[in-house]
Amino acid sequence: MYNSNLSLLIILFVVLFNNEVNADYKVTFPKGFIFSAATAAYQVEGAWNESGKSESNWDRLVHTHPSFVANKDNGDIACDSYHKYKQDVQLLKDIGFKMYRFSLSWSRILPKGTKEFINPAGINYYNNLINELLANDIEPMVTIYHWDHPQILEDIGGWLNESMVEYFVDYADVAFKHFGDRVKWWITINEPLSIMNSYEGTSGPPALNYQGYGGYLSGHNLLKAHAKAYHLYDQKYRPTQQGKVSFALNGALGISATSMEEDKQAAERFTQFTLGWFAHPVYSSTGDYSPVMREFIDRNSLEEGLPQSRLPVFTAEEVKEIRGTYDYMGFNHYSSNLVISGKVGPFPSLLRDIALIPFFNFSWPASANPTMRVFPEGIRLTVNWLRNQYGNVPVFITENGFSDTGGTNDYNRINYLKENLGNLSLAINEDGINIIGHTVWSILDNFEWASGYKQKFGLVEVDFNHPDRPRTMKESAEFYKKKSFLIDKMSAFTRTTRAAVSLLSSRSRNLNIKRGYADEMSFTFAAANQVYYNNANVKQVDVPSFSGSFGILPNHVPTLAVLRPGVVTVFDKDGSAKKVFVSSGTVTINDDSSVQVLAEEAHPIEDLDASAAREQLSKAQSELSKASSEVEKAEAMIAVEVAEAIVQATS
Ligand SMILES: *[C@@H]1O[C@H](CO)[C@@H](O)[C@H](O)[C@H]1NC(C)=O
Ligand SMILES: *[C@@H]1O[C@H](CO)[C@@H](O)[C@H](O)[C@H]1NC(C)=O
Ligand SMILES: *[C@@H]1O[C@H](CO)[C@@H](O)[C@H](O)[C@H]1NC(C)=O
Ligand SMILES: *[C@@H]1O[C@H](CO)[C@@H](O)[C@H](O)[C@H]1NC(C)=O
Repeated sequence: MYNSNLSLLIILFVVLFNNEVNADYKVTFPKGFIFSAATAAYQVEGAWNESGKSESNWDRLVHTHPSFVANKDNGDIACDSYHKYKQDVQLLKDIGFKMYRFSLSWSRILPKGTKEFINPAGINYYNNLINELLANDIEPMVTIYHWDHPQILEDIGGWLNESMVEYFVDYADVAFKHFGDRVKWWITINEPLSIMNSYEGTSGPPALNYQGYGGYLSGHNLLKAHAKAYHLYDQKYRPTQQGKVSFALNGALGISATSMEEDKQAAERFTQFTLGWFAHPVYSSTGDYSPVMREFIDRNSLEEGLPQSRLPVFTAEEVKEIRGTYDYMGFNHYSSNLVISGKVGPFPSLLRDIALIPFFNFSWPASANPTMRVFPEGIRLTVNWLRNQYGNVPVFITENGFSDTGGTNDYNRINYLKENLGNLSLAINEDGINIIGHTVWSILDNFEWASGYKQKFGLVEVDFNHPDRPRTMKESAEFYKKKSFLIDKMSAFTRTTRAAVSLLSSRSRNLNIKRGYADEMSFTFAAANQVYYNNANVKQVDVPSFSGSFGILPNHVPTLAVLRPGVVTVFDKDGSAKKVFVSSGTVTINDDSSVQVLAEEAHPIEDLDASAAREQLSKAQSELSKASSEVEKAEAMIAVEVAEAIVQATS
């Protein structure tokens, strides 16, 4: 066993260095790429009945059917962003976002639903928010409609009633008129696919469950509403305001679960019925619904003996009016689906019309949302699908995020974002896709619709049990702040430490290798160029890791942790302590109480010059203040972090 330990060491080194080699794909984004974060009015604002706001469709649902939402939560107060928007803007600024995507509350601006009465307090609130953002150098992206509208409009049928189209256009007109001098990025409607589902199914108000009809009828009106609002902007506001208008699509890519032809067709059909439903009429060169949607719904309607298709028909003029109503493509992405063909679902229903069974690949890691398993490669596959269908339209990822059940040590979220951004970078640099920005959903934990406050998507934690709704940055906010995804952090730590230490280290000594007999804690500590301990018997070892510094005594629970720059302290049996500065690497605690620390760079503290380290810190800080690109900034932040750790170690 002891003999095998050295070969284990060699194997581990190979793993460490191979990692460095394999992880050499450099995540980069083009100049001008925009990093944004998002929220929506009902999910964060609260103040549901303040300053003239009327009851919305969501207010009605949560108040009359409280058990619709997990824990009977509601958005009456939510994050209280109506009163705390300045704190939110400060957080966005502190994390380094250059854009904030938020939505307007229709019932706050037009409490009666129509333009007959414009609520000054509503206009005032959004003016304050927009001005606060601009004063902090953050560009607003405004969603006009994000699932909440005045209940008065739901009472006349909501999106099933074609009158909604004109009401929406009037509302958009008010938004463009009052805010368009400062807002240059617009989204008319967020996720029409989710909205239609509250008529087709029961995912939100009015939870109509009008299967086989509700989705198609509401979707038809949503498309018309978007197109008319686009044309209004184009004709009335674009000449002076010069902004960009789109809507935000959502939908998952269907991936065939088998290599059978009918499953492959089902997978493509799935994507056409989700993303394609709203994308095809707007972004395709022909316009109108995707042919496969038309074919499948028409055929089923005919078989049901109906005089006409359940999927409404656009006139030639309407097809033309809707086609091309975009300045970019807003796209919300979370996960993908596996698909096999098959006839399921009630009769009639959307699910029966699609004629397939969607499910998940259970090898994909779970999140708190059962429909959002983690498959970051999916974002790359999906933007490729979009480009192949609709050409190389500029794509703005308007939502992307991960849900858990809480806590600030949100490493799964960091990993999700890192791999999604990595795959987007591949889509841009390897596939040539024109992606112009990425938006994290969400800056804050918030009211996650039917999941209430149970599912958390935030980079920032909100304490919903506290009347002041205090906000705390999570690890993912720190990750974002440092733009750590732009560089390979581990190798940056190693490089930076190597460079720093080469200037600080007065001498280079060879320590005696300590040998011992493993009884209680057999300790091995090696760096690329030196073995410090080889199965030595020591009392305690303290290590710096990403989940905090911790001490290891004999019989510590088996653990694998990643080292960060800092001091490893080894307490020998005689009580003396040896301190060694490490850059990065791993610490492994095995079942048999043996411990291995493998560092990429390691230097005894006494070899490092404290005053030179302080000079280096101030140099790193000034580099950081001068850094212009995001990559330079990320590198400089690492240099500061390393220099700070050395100063702390040597003082
Ligand atoms: C607003 O709603 C709260 C309950 O969320 C209620 O206590 C309060 O009286 C309402 N205020 C007004 C002005 O109706
Ligand atoms: C649709 O809305 C109009 C008001 O614009 C209303 O007169 C009509 O009754 C509504 N239709 C239905 C079916 O509720
Ligand atoms: C499911 O995911 C695993 C791991 O990514 C992959 O190897 C496998 O091929 C996937 N299965 C299907 C049916 O796509
Ligand atoms: C892309 O996503 C896959 C998981 O789906 C992940 O293994 C890979 O590391 C990601 N690529 C980058 C460059 O982040």
